Amino acid sequence: MPHGTWVDAQSCDRRALRDMLGSFMTGVTVVAARNEDGAPSALTANSFTSVSLDPPLILVCLAKSSRSAGVFSRAERFSVNILGGWQRDLSAAFASRSPAKDVALEALTPGSPPVVDGSLATIACTQHQVVDAGDHIILIGGVTEFTSMAGEPLGYFRGAYFGFGPATSGDRAAASLGWEAAAQTSAASTDVAAD
Ligand SMILES: Cc1cc2nc3c(=O)[nH]c(=O)nc-3n(C[C@H](O)[C@H](O)[C@H](O)COP(=O)(O)O)c2cc1C
Repeated sequence: MPHGTWVDAQSCDRRALRDMLGSFMTGVTVVAARNEDGAPSALTANSFTSVSLDPPLILVCLAKSSRSAGVFSRAERFSVNILGGWQRDLSAAFASRSPAKDVALEALTPGSPPVVDGSLATIACTQHQVVDAGDHIILIGGVTEFTSMAGEPLGYFRGAYFGFGPATSGDRAAASLGWEAAAQTSAASTDVAAD
């Protein structure tokens, strides 16, 4: 298929650039840490990437404009929680500045780093490096431990969530935590603004 008209990335509307970048289908994570006072901080992020197996390294890109960026740049430890299809509401909560986010922060596990219990996979990291990159920081983590379980992932494409299949056992665990079950939501898309 021929490509369309080239758009100049320097002078174009930022929305057009952002929309184009949203063509890259991703999963969804919640990144969590504690500040110096022990208060939890977390946000939804789909910029997660694996970097290295030996040593095990991952990265996530955080907007400097987010309230969490400062906390993450100083935190010695943080977690990356890869969300399952049953955690769509949780993703929306951590991407917001609403009371739902305060509830979601309260539900993080105690200890450091705090984690989102019942996620498809959770990665515990120590801070390896923070790289300054335009209006974002690149947070590189050294993986210390991880857990994972069976289930369908939560997907994200062009500003909408999507799922891959029917409800899984994770839905029942999620339902018991009070989050919306994927059985009701996995087929439908929800428009949300990403980073
Ligand atoms: C699916 C999705 C993916 C997102 N990915 C990122 C990301 O990779 N990096 C980022 O800084 N913000 C990302 N965001 C936006 C943040 O989650 C959002 O700005 C959040 O409110 C920041 O919280 P804070 O200001 O409390 O730190 C994403 C939002 C959504 C819905």
